[in-house]
Order: sequence, then structure tokens, then C-alpha cells
Amino acid sequence: MEQASGEQTPAQVHVTRLSLTDFRNYHALGLDLAPGAVVLTGENGAGKTNLLEAISFLSPGRGLRRARFDDVAREGVETGFAIHTKLAGPFGECQIGTGTAGLQPAAETGGRRLRINGETARTADAMLEWVRVLWLTPAMDALFTGPGGDRRRFLDRLVLAIDPAHGRRALDYEKAMRARNRLLAEDSRDGGWFDAIETQMAETGVAISAARAEMVRLLAAMNERLPAGGPFPTAEIALEGTIDAEIGHHAAVDVEETFRRLLYDHRPRDRAAGRTLEGPHRSELQVRHAPKNMPAARCSTGEQKALLVGLILAHARLTGELSGSAPILLLDEISAHFDPDRRAALFSILEELNCQAFMTGTEASLFSALDGRAQFLSVSAGAIQDRR
Ligand SMILES: Nc1ncnc2c1ncn2[C@@H]1O[C@H](COP(=O)(O)OP(=O)(O)OP(=O)(O)O)[C@@H](O)[C@H]1O
Ligand SMILES: [Mg+2]
Repeated sequence: MEQASGEQTPAQVHVTRLSLTDFRNYHALGLDLAPGAVVLTGENGAGKTNLLEAISFLSPGRGLRRARFDDVAREGVETGFAIHTKLAGPFGECQIGTGTAGLQPAAETGGRRLRINGETARTADAMLEWVRVLWLTPAMDALFTGPGGDRRRFLDRLVLAIDPAHGRRALDYEKAMRARNRLLAEDSRDGGWFDAIETQMAETGVAISAARAEMVRLLAAMNERLPAGGPFPTAEIALEGTIDAEIGHHAAVDVEETFRRLLYDHRPRDRAAGRTLEGPHRSELQVRHAPKNMPAARCSTGEQKALLVGLILAHARLTGELSGSAPILLLDEISAHFDPDRRAALFSILEELNCQAFMTGTEASLFSALDGRAQFLSVSAGAIQDRR
């Protein structure tokens, strides 16, 4: 992947200092971090993924493991966990702190408290003004073969990095759908109530589908611009679902009307099922390996991994272009599937994209191509040594 001509290198946003208190197997950690590539190596169970997870809390949600906060606090500790970070970027310096230690959890931030530059943040989305974090973990190796919900969540994360309002939409849609499902389960015949909820579902649902469709379009346009035959295959992606086919062909208000009508018509069917059977919560993200013209689910493990990496890199490039700042990437055990040439190509692309990229592995030798170009940290039993 070479940079298309005429583009400006995005600014780097990077974590300069990370402090953890009672986070997973870290009792108290203070770590200075360099821009660019950060390589974490150490034996199984040392705390490599945990460190990436801590940084993933710089984005809305429950981090890269989608964990319950009770599980995140260090075993045996009743007082919760805390993460403090300092970031550097085009904005100068920023401090973000989050955790469950100390204060009452606030519902809007998803049950953890959040402070940005010393002020309590009202919603977790506020972090997206400063930093965007995306990750790939071994748990995502089954993304193309596993449940559709995982693929939707993955796509929604890509959307969120570029369109911070997407999180709010998803919450509003889910809230309205839960209300409708409750009415269905209670066998309610309150038509006025149904109408109000279904109107809300139609508005937020179409907004969700439109934002996803825009992401799909942007990624396709990005793939068009990248030279063919790069080290990571391009993914052809498409969304299939009740209203997804209508988006782009009809005005949003008309699609809303179609969806509202469909919900109305399907009340008896949904009542029998006890839940809403159609909508953007059921859309399927279809992914194909473009060079092979093969559905991703039918590709080899290594091919699927390369496809995912290609997607994340295309998205990182897009984020850099649209926002002017490169995202932070967390690439857990990224090297395991790749031969040395592909690894070297990955490292070069990350540098070209100007990302701070955290990468883990059990062997430092997997990262030898980065000698002199990365910060090497060795992790052991919840302690970290800088081997620069
Ligand atoms: N809440 C917790 N309190 C204390 N320790 C925990 C907690 N949650 C997980 N751990 C422990 O943290 C250790 C490190 O986990 P982590 O997933 O970071 O390992 P890793 O270095 O990524 O290992 P691997 O190479 O196997 O992926 C594990 O031994 C795990 O049991
Ligand atoms: Mg791990």
C-alpha cells in the first residue's frame, strides 16, 4: 500500500504516559511511551493483552474484551480500577482518566467515570474528540465465521471512529427496540404507544443504516485508490438487511416510512416471536476477499487475518485523511500468522500512516524488522521493563 499522491501525512495522536492502578494483573504501573511502534513481549499470562485493553478504554464502551468492570479490577481488590493517560497530538497535550475507583459510576459513560483534562465528561463519546482507538485481537480471528452480531459491532466501531454521533444513535435505537419488545412480550394492544416507539425506531434505525452505508462507501472508495497487489488484500464489503438496500436509492424520510410501515405490519409476527425480527440490528456485513473474489468466511485463517488487517489499515488511512489525526492501533498477537515479508510490510505501512501502534508477541524476534524503529517493552507478571 502506497500513499496516494497529494495527501498530507496525518498528525500523530499518541499516549505519552500510562498509569494503571489495580487494573487486571497490574497493581501500580507508570509507563512512558514513545510515538510510533510500541512492541510488548513476554511469556503467556504476563500482561500484554491487559495493557492493550487498558488503552482500549480510551474509546467508548467496555474495551477490547467487552469486559464487565468487576472483572477488570484486580482480583481481590474492592476499590475498583483506574487508568490515567497523557496524550500528545495536534491539540497539544490532553489527559484522560477513567475507571471505577472512587466515584459512583455514571450511567451515560457506561458505568465508568471519565475525566478529560480534569473535568468530568458527560458521555464516553467525548473521548472521540481527542483520540480514536481501534484494535485487532485473536478473539476476532473468527469474525467472518462467527455470529453476525460481532461483524455488526465491528462495523459500528469503524463508523464511530469517524462519526462520533453513531454511538448515541445505536443506544437510542436499542432503547426503543427494548421498549417495543416489552410491549410485544406483554401482548400489549396499545396502538398509540406502539406507533410512538416504532416512529423512533424508524428514525434512529435509518440513521444507523445510513451511517453504516457511508462507511462502506468510504472504504470502497479508499480501496479503489490503493494500488492493487499490496501486501494485504482489499476487502469488498456490503451490508445486507431489510432497509440497507433502500438507503442511497430513496430519501431518508421515505426509507423511514418504509421501515415504520414494516414494523407496523409485522406486529403480529413479532408478537409471536416475542421480539423485533427485522431492522438494522439484524443487518449482515458481507465481506469478500477481493483479489480472490471469495467470501471471507471461505478463506484460510491466514487469509482472513490478512483481510482484517487490510480493512483496519484502510480504515486508519481514512480516519487520518478525514480527521487529520491518525488513530491509535492495538494489534494483539498480530505477527503470529504472517511471514517475515508481510510483517515488514505491515510495520512500514504503520509508519507511513503515522499511527502509534501497540503490538504484542511472545517472541521479540518476530519484530526484529523494527529494531531501532520501535519502543521495545518486556512484560513479566504485571511489571514492564523498557528495553530501548
Ligand atoms: N482482574 C484480574 N486481576 C488479576 N489478574 C487478572 C485479572 N484478569 C486477568 N488477570 C490475569 O492477568 C494475566 C495476564 O493476562 P494477559 O491476557 O494480559 O496475558 P498475555 O501477556 O496477553 O498472555 P498471552 O501471551 O497468553 O496472550 C493472566 O494471568 C490473567 O489471569
Ligand atoms: Mg495476550
